Amino acid sequence: MDEPLVFLNGRFLPRSQATLDIEDRGVMFADGVYEVVHFYAGRPFAMAAHQARLQRSLQAIALTPPAEACRLAPISAELVQRNRTPDAGVYWQITRGPAPRQHAFPARPRPTLLVMTQPVGPLDFAAPVSALRCITTEDVRWQHCCYKTLMLLANVLAKEKAHQAGCEEAILLRQGRVTEGSSTNVLALVQGTLRTHPADQWILEGVTRGVVLDLARRRGLRVVEQALTLDDLHAAEEVFLTGSTTELAAVTAIDGRPVADGRPGPVTTALYQAFIDCVAAECGITPASAPGTSAAPAPRA
Ligand code: PDD
Repeated sequence: MDEPLVFLNGRFLPRSQATLDIEDRGVMFADGVYEVVHFYAGRPFAMAAHQARLQRSLQAIALTPPAEACRLAPISAELVQRNRTPDAGVYWQITRGPAPRQHAFPARPRPTLLVMTQPVGPLDFAAPVSALRCITTEDVRWQHCCYKTLMLLANVLAKEKAHQAGCEEAILLRQGRVTEGSSTNVLALVQGTLRTHPADQWILEGVTRGVVLDLARRRGLRVVEQALTLDDLHAAEEVFLTGSTTELAAVTAIDGRPVADGRPGPVTTALYQAFIDCVAAECGITPASAPGTSAAPAPRA
């Protein structure tokens, strides 16, 4: 396969020719923000919500983006097309750019803008909802988890701990309350009510979470944005995760204990189907036009 292109500071370049200054503030301080937009069959899902969250993240760290940032949607569409990866996570990163390593902001920042594609499997109408196993671990992140910054070391360590335990995701607990997953939001059906942490400073307000909560409300499900405890998770009828890459995935075990009967529940399955239908409608995919493989994709979280 040809080397993929990336978009870096105004130019489309082969991946191996795209280089950053060693003193880029993204490298030195994680001084930057990012987004991941899922493209399905060449079209973005929930583009406006990702753009709005990017603006909030930029504003939160007082970072003025380079001019091309207002063209992220067409740049992403062109990159997906030129890389022949119609199904991909499109990663956007904006940092405060190269400057001598001083903590305070540079007087005249030259922000870095990077866009790259990470291919994923196509939408598969026939595939069952993925089933993931989770561990729980303490949430040791900072107090501004609502912004999508590059500062992901705590998330990385939590995910690695999950993998070391033979699981796919780590559910984070802050003083006994479930905040979110290391790269996903956590939702649970408890006594017939769909519950998840409120969208405050302690979680990233996931775009997928928002879409799924809307779908749940429209199906007449009672939705309450109130933090769950670990006991709630263990007692829950169903637990699932949402994220742009993960989509909607059932949690079937937590710390080695099965969730309910250890299989994806009916509400999770129905919401997954509703989510897939929503993606298909927005991205113009019909079952007939879909590649139609029946092989279940590998679990992603
Ligand atoms: N992660 N919470 C955290 C900590 C996340 O990193 C993510 C997304 C989510 C879900 O957000 P959304 O539904 O908008 O994708 C929740 C991305 C996909 C990532 O870091 O790769």
